[in-house]
Amino acid sequence: MKRTKIVDILRHSKVNADILVMGWVRTKRISKNVCFITLNDGSCLANLQIVIDITPEIDELLSHVHSGAALKISGVTVESPGQEQALELHAKEITILGEANPEEYPLQPKKHSLEFLREIAHLRFRTNTFGAIFRIRHAMTYAIHKFFNDKGFYNIHSPIITASDCEGAGEMFRVTTLDLYNLPKTEDGKIDFTQDFFGRETNLTVSGQLEAELAALALSQVYTFGPTFRAENSNTARHLAEFWMIEPEMAFYDINDDMDLAEEMLKYLVKYALDNCREDLEFLHKRREEEQKQKPQNERDEMGLIPRLEFVLYNNFERITYTQAIEILMNSKPNKNKQFVYPVDKWGTDLQSEHERYLVEKHFKKPVIITDYPKEIKAFYMKLNDDGKTVRAMDVLFPQIGEIIGGSQREENYDKLIGRMKEVGIHQKDMWWYLETRKFGSVPHSGFGLGFERLMLFITGMSNIRDVIPFPRTPKNAEF
Ligand code: 4AD
Ligand code: MG
Repeated sequence: MKRTKIVDILRHSKVNADILVMGWVRTKRISKNVCFITLNDGSCLANLQIVIDITPEIDELLSHVHSGAALKISGVTVESPGQEQALELHAKEITILGEANPEEYPLQPKKHSLEFLREIAHLRFRTNTFGAIFRIRHAMTYAIHKFFNDKGFYNIHSPIITASDCEGAGEMFRVTTLDLYNLPKTEDGKIDFTQDFFGRETNLTVSGQLEAELAALALSQVYTFGPTFRAENSNTARHLAEFWMIEPEMAFYDINDDMDLAEEMLKYLVKYALDNCREDLEFLHKRREEEQKQKPQNERDEMGLIPRLEFVLYNNFERITYTQAIEILMNSKPNKNKQFVYPVDKWGTDLQSEHERYLVEKHFKKPVIITDYPKEIKAFYMKLNDDGKTVRAMDVLFPQIGEIIGGSQREENYDKLIGRMKEVGIHQKDMWWYLETRKFGSVPHSGFGLGFERLMLFITGMSNIRDVIPFPRTPKNAEF
């Protein structure tokens, strides 16, 4: 007999069907001559209740069955007297596929803290919370590809190893095969990278944008969806050293088209989750409600997870310029009362996440897109405005998250681009291939980057980015 997944049994099976299931024991309970096992196989949040009539030989076998053990069970579906599900399985034959010693198995059927679960990241998939998160993560991956595919975008695989620093922030992980204990040196005592694997200095990419631009200037509408790496030493609940980014790039789009696409995409993804991940979202909604109850009243969320998702879906994002944002912030209560860690005192200062969250959560009470930032605080590739001071950047800010998307219209003018590169100290000769696209058939184009784990934070209502990626990479942490 073939295995049936629990999701299919609970959704489609009828009473009296012969079925084979395989999965992991969540709980075991014995009452008189009957044993009840809840089995989970990860195909959905719900467990299948297994009912076993105890005979002497089954009794011996059951003494080896504990939380975490893997079982193969064949039986017949019967109507469940319980409220929780319509069906349960009356077991006929049970095989233990893998035991789990209760003295050693760290996951007990009780609530564990997220911090503890991070220490057992190899097992945390087996909890309700992480099962829900990673099923949703999959659904969001699929929805992203579907969104772009339906719009005629092409997925481009940008390289993971590069020689350029797209964001110009110098936060890169070096890639080398040189012997660190015996580095080859040039005559003037510098490291001789011509002897390195690629014959030059290379690093893990911080963004696939530059390559996506090359593709967009031929295929019109493309997107990347890959891992990106940043060696920024910010140990926050919103930063990872390895995160996944979705970067669409569109020829013939100006910044307004870019913002429209960003808003449409975020709403599409929220709707996809609401339509397709209901059971898991409802679980996470309740989980967050419990979590909020532990907090002091003034720190609690005003909105629950599902209402917040719906709120984003049904409201237009507010669009303002950086200059307007600074005015609002300078005149804001927390700024006047010196409650910001970084006071806002002049045009030109970079916005911190406390400022972004004030604008979104307190001032506008909805997602905000800020455009036209000072060029000094943005990357070299952004299109310079006529004022010569600001660039056609756009950041999308979300409640609880702050910046979820960063993007811009790109500088398509060859001379202006070279001017910006000189200003920030990027060597033309290293970027000759990027510059050539501005020489040959250059067109207005735009794009943005959506941080996948930031999106996941928003969709799941989790508070720490380490809990929405299977194996987080953060400073001093690459255990699993
Ligand atoms: O604003 P960023 O740095 O923009 C870029 O990389 C552009 N090349 C994107 C583009 O225009 N194609 O990063 C984009 C997004 C941020 O808004 C944030 O959501 C996410 O990537 N992000 C991070 N997520 C997790 N951990 C980090 N360390 C992140 N840094 C950026
Ligand atoms: Mg940014």
